[in-house]
Formats: sequence, C-alpha cells, structure tokens
Amino acid sequence: MTAFASAYQASVENPARLWSEAACAVSWYHAPEEPFEGKAYGLAEWFPGATLNTCFNAVDRHVDAGRGAQAALIYDSPLAGTERCVSYQELQHDVAQLAGALRDLQVQPGDRVVIYLPMIPEAVIAMLACARIGAVHCVVFGGFAAPELAKRIDDAKPRVVLSASCGIEPKGIVAYKPLLDAALELAAHPVESVVILQRRELRAELRRPRDLDWCEATAAAAPAACVPMRASDPLYILYTSGTTGIAKGVVRDNGGHAVAMAWSLRHVFGMQPGEVFWAASDIGWVVGHSYIVYAPLIAGCTTILYEGKPVGTPDAGAYWRVIRAHGVQVLLTSPAALRAIKREDPEGLQLKPGTGRLRAVFLAGERADPDTVRWAEKHCQVPVIDNWWQTELGWPALATCLGLGERAVRYGSAGHAVPGYRFAVLNAQSEPQSPRIIGDICIRLPLPPGCLSTLWNNEVEFVASYLAAHPGFYRTGDSGFIDADGFVHVMSRIDDIINVAGHRLSSGGIEQVIAEHPDVAECAVIGAADAIKGMVPVGLLVLKAGVTRAQAEIIVEVARKIRDEIGAISACRAIVVVDRLPKTRSGKILRSVIRRIADGESFETPASIEDPQALDGVCEALRAVGYSQTEVTRASGM
Ligand code: COA
Ligand code: AMP
Repeated sequence: MTAFASAYQASVENPARLWSEAACAVSWYHAPEEPFEGKAYGLAEWFPGATLNTCFNAVDRHVDAGRGAQAALIYDSPLAGTERCVSYQELQHDVAQLAGALRDLQVQPGDRVVIYLPMIPEAVIAMLACARIGAVHCVVFGGFAAPELAKRIDDAKPRVVLSASCGIEPKGIVAYKPLLDAALELAAHPVESVVILQRRELRAELRRPRDLDWCEATAAAAPAACVPMRASDPLYILYTSGTTGIAKGVVRDNGGHAVAMAWSLRHVFGMQPGEVFWAASDIGWVVGHSYIVYAPLIAGCTTILYEGKPVGTPDAGAYWRVIRAHGVQVLLTSPAALRAIKREDPEGLQLKPGTGRLRAVFLAGERADPDTVRWAEKHCQVPVIDNWWQTELGWPALATCLGLGERAVRYGSAGHAVPGYRFAVLNAQSEPQSPRIIGDICIRLPLPPGCLSTLWNNEVEFVASYLAAHPGFYRTGDSGFIDADGFVHVMSRIDDIINVAGHRLSSGGIEQVIAEHPDVAECAVIGAADAIKGMVPVGLLVLKAGVTRAQAEIIVEVARKIRDEIGAISACRAIVVVDRLPKTRSGKILRSVIRRIADGESFETPASIEDPQALDGVCEALRAVGYSQTEVTRASGM
C-alpha cells in the first residue's frame, strides 16, 4: 500500500486520530482535548473548548522560535515596479501596529472589518491584524464595483474598512477611494472609520474625521498583543457567488482552519518550513486567503505576493522570472493563467532559463484541460497537479497529495479524495451512483476541519444550499462521476454559476443587473466556452415592446451597467438582442440549450419547449457575434 493509500485509509478508519495529530502542528493556549463534537445535520465542531490565536500561529511563534529574520513574504509587483521582502520580525511589528490602530478605533473581538485592498503587503498585514485581536475580516476583491462592495458592507456590518488609494491594472491606475466612497453612500450600514493606505501612484482625498491615514494611525498606535480565541470563533467571512445576486458569506473558524492550513500545505502540497510557496491568485479569493496568506505563514514558509498578470506584465515570462528570482518551490495557479502564457509562448521559449528550484505546479479554480497540463509538464519538467475545492471548503478536497508521496495524475480528473474527505456521487434519490455514472458530487458529513461552519447571517440558506438535498452529505453544487480507480471527474455545475478564468460568477446575478435596464423585458446570461478563460459570460436580451432606440446603443448601456454595478471581471464578452428566449412551456429559460448553441454543440430540442423557432433567432444572433459557428445537429426530443 502506498503512503497515500494508507494515510487515506487511516483517515477513514480513525479521523479523530488524524486530526488530533494534525492539531499538534498548531500552537494553542488551551490545547484541544477532543478533536470534534457532533452538531446538527451530521456536521462537526472542530476542537471544542480549545483556544488559540491564528495570527500568533502565522507570525509570532516563528519569531519566538528564532526565525524572525526569515522572509515571511516577498512582494513582487511588475505593475508598481517594486520588490520588497518582509521578514517575520517586520511582519510582526507591522501587524501589531495595525492591530493597535484597530483597537484605538474600538474594534473588539467579533467585530467585522472589511478589507478592500489590492495585492500589496498591507493586505496581508490587514488580515493578520484582524486575526490578532479577534476581529472577523471580510476581504472584498478589488475588482468589484461599488454596489457589490456596498452589499457586502450591509451584510457584514463592519465597524471599520481598510483600503488603499488605488490598485494598479495593466490598463492603468484604478482609483479605489471613489469606489469605496460610493459604496459607503450606497450602504445602509454606517461604517464608523475608514483607514486608507496612500500609494505613491495616486493619493486619495480623505474625508476626516471618518477617514484616517494608514501610516499616521499605525504610527500613533501602541502594538496590540494576540488575543486568545475559541477554536470555533469566526476568523473570516468570504463572500462567494450563489445562484442569486446576493453573495453568500462563507464563515471560517479559527481552530479547524489553522489545523487544515498546516496539514494541507505539508501533505497535499509537500511543503516544509522555510521553503518558498507561491499562490498566483488574489487575496480577494479563497485561494489567496488560504495559500497566499494563512497556510504558508502558519507553516513557517515564505509566501510570494505578486501584483501582476501572467502575461503583459511585461510578457509571458513573468511567472518563470518570479519563480527563478525568489526560489519558488511550489506554484499554485489557475489553468487560465497557464493557457494565457501558452498562447503567447507556445514553444515555452521563456522557460529556456529553467524553473530554478520549482518542484511542482498545482492548478485550481477550474477544470484543468489535459492540453494545458501536458504543455506545462513538458516545459516545466515537474509534476502538474489538478486539485478541486471551493470557497466553502477552504482547501483541496480532490488532489494528488504530493506530500504523501502520491505522483499519479489522471488527465481530465481532479484526482483522488484527500484524507478527511469522503466523496460520493448521488442520484436525485440520494442513492450512490455506480462508477462512471454522472450525478451530484457530494461529501459525506462531517466535513473535515477548515471547511465552512455556516453562512454569515444565513443559517437557513446554509442548510438549504448544502445539506438539505442529500441528508448526511454536503452537496458541492458540481456534477461528475467517480471512475473505477477512485479518481473523481468534475464535469459541470448543477446551478447557474459560471467559472471565468477561475473566478466564480453568478449568471443569475448578472441577469439581475441587466434586467433593471429600462428597455430590457427579459434576458439570459450563459457561460460560453473560451480558449483562455474557460468560459466567458454572453448576454441575450429581449427588448420591451415599443422600444425603438438603436439596439447598439442599448447594448453599450447594458455592458456599462454590468461593469459599473458588478465589476469588469463580470463584463460580457458579447451581448445580443433576440426576439424571444427559448423557454419551456412552464416558462423556464433553456439556458443549457443556449449554451450548447453558442459553443456549437449538438443538442436535442427539448420536448417541453414552448416555441422551437426561438432557437433559430438565438442561433442567428449568436452567429453574428462569432458564436455558434458550426452547424449543430438538432435532434427533436418530442
Ligand atoms: N481591480 C480592478 N480591476 C480588476 C482587478 C482588480 N483587482 N482584477 C481584474 N480587474 C479587471 C481587469 O482590469 C479587466 O478589466 P477590463 O475588461 O476593463 O480590461 C477585467 O477585470 C478582467 O480582468 P482579468 O480577468 O484579469 O482578464 P484579462 O483579460 O485582463 O486577463 C487572464 C486574462 C487569463 C490573464 C487573467 O484572467 C488571469 O490572470 N487569470 C488567472 C486568474 C487567476 O489566477 N485566478 C485565481 C483563481 S485560483
Ligand atoms: P470557488 O468557490 O470560486 O473556488 O469555485 C469553486 C468551483 O470552481 C467548484 O465548485 C467547481 O465548479 C470549480 N472548480 C474549482 N476547481 C476545479 C477543478 N480543479 N476542476 C473542475 N472544477 C473546479
């Protein structure tokens, strides 16, 4: 039996032992006596009664152990033209000062703090400062527009917002402060204080007394010490797309999370303390939370904070330069990033100087297509490993566990269940499917440590979304199958979530924004296939009767509305006007048929369709904007 197989078997036979041992990698004020306690629905509370501080585990204990001079994070920004190395000692100082400033602003344990920051060291410092004093951070991705930020402010109800004057994108400076001011005006919840980091690229106007300057506030503060928290206390809320326009606030605890971070970095990613890990993501996403910030720091590694893109900053060699320059040992990135690099440098010429100390590339966030995996294997000459997880889970559930000696990958599959997770594919009656038969991908409860404990302010939705469909199981929202060797193949979402360059977007959320346009009667948004981003949103509009304005004008307005209200990452690649949308007789829009038409896939005209001719209009409109190019076979399901 391989090391992986025996670790997996042990995790199934005796999970209490696995997680009790894993908890030894974390420093506790009051060590856990029991690894877990059962809760309603078959869930578990992890490490009940134990106390710890996540910031202490990520920072102070490494300084106490004499590793203060080691690089904790390396900030590399081709966009700002800056490189900066922050040691554990410096990180401790900066975090304690900001935590002190938050204390001075009356932030108490359990209070929420919204963080709206670009990829700069202060973003990491902000998260850790909250953890230090027991405040619950809520990071909002910098690419979201003011109304999305306002929704999160209203749901999380923060006392303080931490932000910066600007972000930097290849197209230029993105002024954050006007977006934040607009969001604070839109939000019903009154935020007491805003702390702004002034970047040298753009200074923001401060509205005193509400707004404070970051440097002034931290210089004036006394450093704050770490506060012991219960393992079950929330560490953060991270919003993710649900099936409606209202994002879901995933809540993560302190204790289970710290244990899962330490365990997964070592056993899934194969990292040792002192090594260099790079998650090329953004702190606004779960990959950034777990593998830019918490896991590498809790494990005593050096983490890379990269403010740039895989291509264009300045070229397709950027990732390989960072890997060589900083001695990165393991890279975690998205297939979209590699596809973008591959398109610009198909022969891997930028890889000629080598990949330094790199020993593995992990891919997450979307399906890793075999072409991209093979291209990366050929040019990087290291294992390229797909891994599947979600904002809700917080760490890989399917992977090839490098740290447990596993090497085998199966192209097209995201890997085996990771110890701690027990997968099942179920049919609508909650019965397990036979190997290779597609169904709902589910995880048997209880979930391991580090997974969501609830949805913020919404226990009802938590149960309805994840637990109600199949009693005793967590429903992932993905469909797929398990093959005879236990490899899990993730096929697609069962809801209206679309995945654009590893970013999770709700097509329903985009539709909601479009539907508010005064000339739009109804609309549909689908995720059409894209060679680089995997999927891109494409919108179809039906205009209200009597609208005589130029369609092109309306399309421009709708496109602008999406950017202004959700953000540029949700921008539709194409928007078309059609006479009517294909629907079932009960009025349900046939989105999956529209998607197949856009992608030029054959489809069956559903027996339940109300007006089959609507399909012709959709084909024609999509063809005019470059989709639906192949002649599709259209079988009749009647
Ligand atoms: N702040 C403000 N705007 C942002 C932003 C941020 N933090 N991040 C993205 N945007 C904007 C971009 O400026 C762009 O705006 P534009 O349409 O006006 O040009 C838009 O959002 C889309 O950005 P992006 O997704 O970066 O697309 P792109 O076409 O510029 O680049 C890729 C394509 C594939 C290179 C890019 O999507 C990428 O790097 N993907 C990998 C993503 C990743 O690693 N995800 C993590 C999941 S694990
Ligand atoms: P997020 O919560 O943003 O991380 O998105 C999670 C969703 O992204 C999953 O439910 C999947 O639909 C998709 N996803 C993430 N990783 C993979 C992967 N390795 N293979 C296929 N789909 C993935």
